[in-house]
Amino acid sequence: MNDQMAQEHFSDLAAAMHLREDAADPCIMVIFGASGDLTKRLLVPSLFNLYCDDLLPPSFAILGMAMDDFTTDSFRAKMDADIREFSKRSPFDEQAWHTFCLGIHYIQGRFDDAQAFSLLQEKLGEMDAEYATGGNVLFYMATPPAVFSMLSSHIEAVGLNRDSDGWRRIIVEKPFGTDLASAIALNREILSYWKEEQVYRIDHYIGKEAVQNLLAFRFANGMFEPLWNRTHIDHIQITATEQVGVEWRGAYYEKSGVMRDMIQNHLFQMMAYLCMEPPTSFEADAIRNEKFKLLSAVRLMSSDDVALNAVRGQYAEGVKPDGSPAVAYRDEAHINPHSNTETFAALKVRIDNWRWHGVPVYLRSGKAMESKTTEIVVQFRRAPEFTFRGTPAFGQLEANQLIFRIHPEEGIELRFLAKRPGPSMHMRKVNMHFAYDEAFTRQPGTGYETMLYDCMHGDSSLFSRTDLVETSWRIVQPVLDVWGEEKAVDFPNYPFGSWGPKASFELLNPGHRRWVDRISRTVLERVPMFEGSSDAMLKAFAMMLKPMVFNRGDEIVQYGSEGGELFIIEKGRVEIVDRKGWVKTELGEGQVFGEVSLLITKQRQASVRALTYCVIYTLEKRDFCKVLKDKPQFAERVMQMARERYNVIIDANDLMADGMPSSKPD
Ligand code: BG6
Repeated sequence: MNDQMAQEHFSDLAAAMHLREDAADPCIMVIFGASGDLTKRLLVPSLFNLYCDDLLPPSFAILGMAMDDFTTDSFRAKMDADIREFSKRSPFDEQAWHTFCLGIHYIQGRFDDAQAFSLLQEKLGEMDAEYATGGNVLFYMATPPAVFSMLSSHIEAVGLNRDSDGWRRIIVEKPFGTDLASAIALNREILSYWKEEQVYRIDHYIGKEAVQNLLAFRFANGMFEPLWNRTHIDHIQITATEQVGVEWRGAYYEKSGVMRDMIQNHLFQMMAYLCMEPPTSFEADAIRNEKFKLLSAVRLMSSDDVALNAVRGQYAEGVKPDGSPAVAYRDEAHINPHSNTETFAALKVRIDNWRWHGVPVYLRSGKAMESKTTEIVVQFRRAPEFTFRGTPAFGQLEANQLIFRIHPEEGIELRFLAKRPGPSMHMRKVNMHFAYDEAFTRQPGTGYETMLYDCMHGDSSLFSRTDLVETSWRIVQPVLDVWGEEKAVDFPNYPFGSWGPKASFELLNPGHRRWVDRISRTVLERVPMFEGSSDAMLKAFAMMLKPMVFNRGDEIVQYGSEGGELFIIEKGRVEIVDRKGWVKTELGEGQVFGEVSLLITKQRQASVRALTYCVIYTLEKRDFCKVLKDKPQFAERVMQMARERYNVIIDANDLMADGMPSSKPD
């Protein structure tokens, strides 16, 4: 451990010790639906992490309740087997687990059986005496929302919802309703049994460190706040994509779709953190009031707006990351073969307040996508170019981007222009990068630890309030209405393992803005002209390449037109057609076309048509010029390709002299 790491480690330890002094109250956590997936995958591993980090109250126990036929002993045995599969702690502390496990209890009971709740009350009384938990009980509803109300009424009947002797709180999991009306009804029901301050609505995205860091980043660093507005920011992109399809969750997903499953909750929460006004304190209500104000300022779409500002998609068959075939959404288990459910959605959102007026926020999420990526891009306005008139940098300026990476790596990247070493004023995009794993030492967590800890502590700042939930539904409701009424005629419209439907790329007005996607590293490495490039150079290329999507039959390049970019195929196949209409060749993944345009201003020598759905990255001429001096072999390979394919000969010296290609077409 070097000095800096030792120091960080020490401060992490000090922070933990501080929390320990301020430890959560003693309590019993009751898990309804304890035999299900959530308990074994997330709840018990998170509680065990808190225990190992000394963040659980010293008097703490778990009481699982479900219909399944377990005793406390057999349930502990099940947890003992499950923890070994789902805990990511390394090394796994057997002794600690053994002690922790002794605090796990179980009672069998049906949620519609009033008797079971008398038993629950009795058992809680015994455990309270045994563990000295002061009557504090946290109820975790690891159940479908349909039973929240039934559970609450039985809890109320035995008086366990009242804060009289110790506090009583409930944690509820999403979905909080399936539309605005059902969310209002659900909230009304819950609030007829519980007070608002007893209800903790969990959104696991807010549990992610990198999401919580948005607040730290914005409000602990004075340099960004003056820039955080429409004067300096051009637009914002929020992306949360997954590689997996619906897997075993077809029955739920078919009624949900990505708008309800991800956008209405997780993406809106991230948007609220990123765009809200500074709260007056870190008190729960101060933060939640600002989130509410932000979400209330989102412009509600009319049905005509939906057509312009919302894109939906559904995946077709394709290829999984391991190369095996993947079935289309409509062929998954429990899915209607004519399903209208969207597995991809992109939205253009307007925030009608002074800070964000005129700054679009683009949100997108989908299943069966190219990669599992969660990130936020804040794109600033471009600097005015006049200062660089008469220098090679004129026409080369690009907007700064601040990228918050939430998954796979957690960190922050700032992209800016730097002068390339040498006598002339050439620019290239470079980046500064902060990675959590390099800066801090920590055990891998589930994302639930902080939220469970906060709830036991009575801090609801990370949890959603009634008004927040309902406002989020209000924003998506017009879209859900239009999509529910109008069947999508083009479904399925993107292959499994791609970047989603073409319309999502058009939503950004591609002449002006593009999604910031990174070309797959494996494809980049396969491109012959990048062979032998260093890691840094490949990253530099990846930053320059801009994605586009084409559907089967689309003309990507037109014979005779004037082009200014090279195309790299990441996914799909194209055919090259000569001016007489003869197909000259077909190209696929990792292959390139359009190279002549990088070298000379010449009309396109052939047309190019998409034979399948294609994801294509473009390298613009101005970017190509920026790398010429750093990477002469690269330019050499492009020239060789132009020579072999089209007999276009370029003088390398001319090309290198000023970084701008000149040409001697044959
Ligand atoms: C859940 C959704 O809320 O979030 C799932 O219901 C989705 O469909 C999951 O897979 C994604 O979470 P994460 O943390 O893996 O990005």
